[in-house]
Amino acid sequence: MKVTKRIAAVADLHCPRTSGEVLKPFFTELASQADIILLCGDLTDYGKPEEAQALVQSLAGVGRIPVLAVLGNHDYECGHAEEVERILCGSGVKMLDGTSVEIDGIGFAGVKGFAGGFGDRMLQPWGEPILKQFVHEAVEEALKLESALAKMSTASRIVLLHYAPIYATVEGEPSEIIPFLGSSRLEEPLNRYGVTAVFHGHAHHGSPEGRTREGVPVYNVAMPLLRRRFPDQQPVRFFDVPAAETVAT
Ligand SMILES: [Fe+2]
Ligand SMILES: [Fe+2]
Repeated sequence: MKVTKRIAAVADLHCPRTSGEVLKPFFTELASQADIILLCGDLTDYGKPEEAQALVQSLAGVGRIPVLAVLGNHDYECGHAEEVERILCGSGVKMLDGTSVEIDGIGFAGVKGFAGGFGDRMLQPWGEPILKQFVHEAVEEALKLESALAKMSTASRIVLLHYAPIYATVEGEPSEIIPFLGSSRLEEPLNRYGVTAVFHGHAHHGSPEGRTREGVPVYNVAMPLLRRRFPDQQPVRFFDVPAAETVAT
């Protein structure tokens, strides 16, 4: 018998130090509606350990529902990204960074990603060393994603990113900042490995959904965007994904 699991994905919580009790009802409600929760970066506002503690407090009502996450650029701001990660891991959140995990026969790969722009206008590694270093970071993140996907053997493959892999889901942002919101270098592995769906954040004023060149669905789940675009709904994207087959008895 085919079964499905319901994913709830959201990004850009930007948890301040005081968010603990504020976000708790939101996550408790999600846990009653979904089987797996994905958090796609900018988990904290400045990457402070006490902000990560506040998120842990918010997640207390989630119970045994698996929570998977990647970091975002905000989680690096204060230079304590490792500690933020350690605090979240300690509370049971599965942090992905070029790694993958399998839950109920569904594979999940995650990486933060990086900037650099899209399509023909993508930044190229040419000229000053610092510019080459910038492009190198995007290439490295794409390689980490590729390596995580290469190790997966599940039929369903879900990807978590913070930065956008396609232009379509940043469309709506001011044109001046679009190259800082993602990179087409992240798109290649998604197409090559026939990913089932991709969730990202970072583009608070982008568009909620798009597709890669090969038709892979991409969802921008930045909480501020979802709140604005769907004011009557919870600021989260639900997605049903086929899980491992079970034998009917
Ligand atoms: Fe953000
Ligand atoms: Fe961000």
